[in-house]
Amino acid sequence: MFFTTLVILTFVASIDAKPLFNVNNNSIGSLGPLTFKRDGTFQISIFEDLHFGENAWDQWGPQQDINSVKVINEILEAESPGLVVLNGDLITGENGFLENSTVYIDQIVGPLVDRGLTWASTYGNHDYDFNISGSAILAREKRWSNSRTTQMVPNEEAGTSNYYLPVYDSGCSDNSCAPELILWFFDSRGGFRYQQKDESNKRVGQPDWVDFSVVNWFIQTNNELVGKYGKITPSLAFVHIPTYASYILQKEGVDPHAEPGINDDNPLAPQAQGWCSDGRNDGTCDYGGQDIPFMQAISAVPGLMALFSGHDHGNTWCYKWDRLLPNMTVAPLNDVNLCFGQHSGYGGYGNWERGARQVLATKSKLANFEVDTWIRLESGNVVGSVSLNSTYGRDLYPATNNSKTHCPTCHYDS
Ligand SMILES: *[C@@H]1O[C@H](CO)[C@@H](O)[C@H](O)[C@H]1NC(C)=O
Ligand SMILES: *[C@@H]1O[C@H](CO)[C@@H](O)[C@H](O)[C@H]1NC(C)=O
Ligand SMILES: *[C@@H]1O[C@H](CO)[C@@H](O)[C@H](O)[C@H]1NC(C)=O
Ligand SMILES: *[C@@H]1O[C@H](CO)[C@@H](O)[C@H](O)[C@H]1NC(C)=O
Ligand SMILES: *[C@@H]1O[C@H](CO)[C@@H](O)[C@H](O)[C@H]1NC(C)=O
Ligand SMILES: *[C@@H]1O[C@H](CO)[C@@H](O)[C@H](O)[C@H]1NC(C)=O
Repeated sequence: MFFTTLVILTFVASIDAKPLFNVNNNSIGSLGPLTFKRDGTFQISIFEDLHFGENAWDQWGPQQDINSVKVINEILEAESPGLVVLNGDLITGENGFLENSTVYIDQIVGPLVDRGLTWASTYGNHDYDFNISGSAILAREKRWSNSRTTQMVPNEEAGTSNYYLPVYDSGCSDNSCAPELILWFFDSRGGFRYQQKDESNKRVGQPDWVDFSVVNWFIQTNNELVGKYGKITPSLAFVHIPTYASYILQKEGVDPHAEPGINDDNPLAPQAQGWCSDGRNDGTCDYGGQDIPFMQAISAVPGLMALFSGHDHGNTWCYKWDRLLPNMTVAPLNDVNLCFGQHSGYGGYGNWERGARQVLATKSKLANFEVDTWIRLESGNVVGSVSLNSTYGRDLYPATNNSKTHCPTCHYDS
């Protein structure tokens, strides 16, 4: 209730507030802006939960990373994205040493650099630990000029990977035209605070939701973009940890034909899990509701077609959030699709077949705020190919085969 009121006030207050953020300057160093291809399409490949750097001292740890590089290569042989999104848990931070915890970035981006691809990251809960942080990973990414990851909310408490990227038409080589598509990246934090221990020498937990200052930035920046271009631009968003709305939608029932995908992590783990509403995280509460402002924003910002998450390796469906759900106070103002991708790395729990969700934006479909998406698996198979259009949720598709990876050298710790 408290949060709901705050967000409504923010929406009202931000209409004629003075801009806090300069939307004209989205300079990304030597890289040109993202653009559609001449055929009017723009494709994104989402790799998530890569979990590099597990048990460097055992044979199976480095072997997992070799396998994960193979996954990235196989998928990029089959798909031709204009952007790669690394959607959190790039590295298993709790296994890292302070002096070299981020070197795995070089291995992850190798296949992208080889192909001249550019990428944009969000950081996940395993990217934050005693020996690793979002800032440290960003610094390592920035050794490569192909990284578009940046930090637009200059508040260390709010996490690192909060920013947006505009995508322009193919003919547009500078920022003078209006974008065709906007990509929003959010940091759901979690994990542990960098180089901090409490009195009993335990690592200090970090909030696992999108910070309120980021929600504010999102609403305000979006209002500025709408004002600047005089129209609602279609948009997509990425965050590592899904929201509580995904948790309730899952309870409502995931139909294998209407929402094709694997649904093995049930119940799923949402933002604000393990926290109390009063800010304690001492193991006494299941869920504290701190992601309510973020949910309010993503379901109210016009033009936002879908939010893509990872985190729950055993879930791969998309679900349209189009109604007030039981036990929730947030009534969505716009329908937004809440999607999982596919566990991409050999690190991390579970032996579901590795893969990567693909998102295809086509200018003609964007006119109706629609995108297409499918999952490319390591085997080369495609599953869960759907159109996130006005009838998604009612259209019937083939159910997704729940295929597993056979990997004798792997260490599955689920
Ligand atoms: C935009 O930002 C970049 C990086 O912060 C800066 O170097 C550049 O001067 C800025 N350009 C304008 C036009 O403000
Ligand atoms: C962090 O890095 C230091 C230095 O390499 C290492 O001694 C320590 O075991 C690592 N992990 C933790 C949780 O402190
Ligand atoms: C990182 O540092 C640790 C401890 O100093 C070392 O054992 C390990 O081999 C290093 N890992 C990499 C990938 O360089
Ligand atoms: C709603 O909350 C009640 C009380 O906590 C619980 O018993 C019920 O299972 C919840 N329903 C859903 C759909 O989450
Ligand atoms: C949405 O996409 C599905 C699959 O392509 C299609 O069958 C359906 O007719 C589409 N709905 C609309 C309103 O275009
Ligand atoms: C799904 O798996 C079954 C049994 O392994 C197989 O017969 C079928 O061809 C698979 N379908 C797809 C679409 O991969």
